[in-house]
Amino acid sequence: MIKKGSTYVVMGLLNTDSIAYATGKMIESLGGKVIYTVQNERLKKIFFDRGCTDLSQEEKDAMDIRYCDVTIENEVRNLFKDTGEIAGVVHSIAFANPKTCLGDKVYTNYFEDIKQGFHISCVSLAAVTEFAQERMTKGGSVVTLSFASQLAFPYYNWMGVNKAALEALVRALAREYGREHVRVNAVSAGPLTTKAAKSIPHFAHLARTWKKISPMPWDPIKDKQEVANSVVFLLGEYSKKITGQTIYVDGGASSVGGELLPHEKPLMRTPAKKKRAAQERLERMRALQKKSLEG
Ligand SMILES: NC(=O)c1ccc[n+]([C@@H]2O[C@H](COP(=O)([O-])OP(=O)(O)OC[C@H]3O[C@@H](n4cnc5c(N)ncnc54)[C@H](O)[C@@H]3O)[C@@H](O)[C@H]2O)c1
Repeated sequence: MIKKGSTYVVMGLLNTDSIAYATGKMIESLGGKVIYTVQNERLKKIFFDRGCTDLSQEEKDAMDIRYCDVTIENEVRNLFKDTGEIAGVVHSIAFANPKTCLGDKVYTNYFEDIKQGFHISCVSLAAVTEFAQERMTKGGSVVTLSFASQLAFPYYNWMGVNKAALEALVRALAREYGREHVRVNAVSAGPLTTKAAKSIPHFAHLARTWKKISPMPWDPIKDKQEVANSVVFLLGEYSKKITGQTIYVDGGASSVGGELLPHEKPLMRTPAKKKRAAQERLERMRALQKKSLEG
């Protein structure tokens, strides 16, 4: 549980589809205060002010939104100068030029794009943690978002490399800031429908793949909430001794090999189907008992 009345900085808001939005709303519902960050004023105008038609003007005005481009060190430094004491930070930020870094070939000589992606998606976590921990005088928690870095997915190319590096950085930062009682962890989420995800070529294929490999049902829209819940768990008091970890919130897809066979696929839990499944289980058990008694 997060600390009621404490402030959390949630970085990487673009619109109401963002993982940052779902996480911030969950923190608020549990009594925390949230400072959101958007990359810059231009993106806020396009994607939040004009783009989020699902929020009223009052709801938008009630949110504390600040600007921070994580590639500009002074912006990160100044952000945390003005937050006062904080209990946690969510780093929900990534970018890689889809034309050069997520193409059908891994190799590219657009080295500036590779560097930019690495800076935004990985290195920035170190700057955020450094300036944020100065505001966590009673200790705190930093959580970042990763994606399936142990496997190579089509087109994810340099972003997959960035995520693997990000998870290594999580461990290095956990080691460094443990002495300040600051924890650093990652949540590795299954595919979720957001703006960033839509810029991954063939994202729909990735989402369909999840349906074939995930032991638990996975919904790329609704399960954003489950991801947010786990981020909040890592921010809060119930995860006090967890640091340097990557927690998979992906329906279990990362733990299995190969596509699920038909009998392994998650059952659709409508009441009628649930009743039928229970009945089938009972019949299977009775048949086994009968067989063992006869034998
Ligand atoms: N959507 C998914 O399927 C999925 C799955 C696993 C992990 N993630 C990760 O979750 C995080 C959040 O992504 P999302 O899916 O909510 O998409 P999103 O597009 O809503 O959020 C990405 C954010 O990164 C910000 N950003 C990019 N460059 C920046 C910069 N230089 N400075 C500051 N902010 C910058 C964007 O402005 C945007 O707000 C990312 O790290 C992403 O890789 C997403």
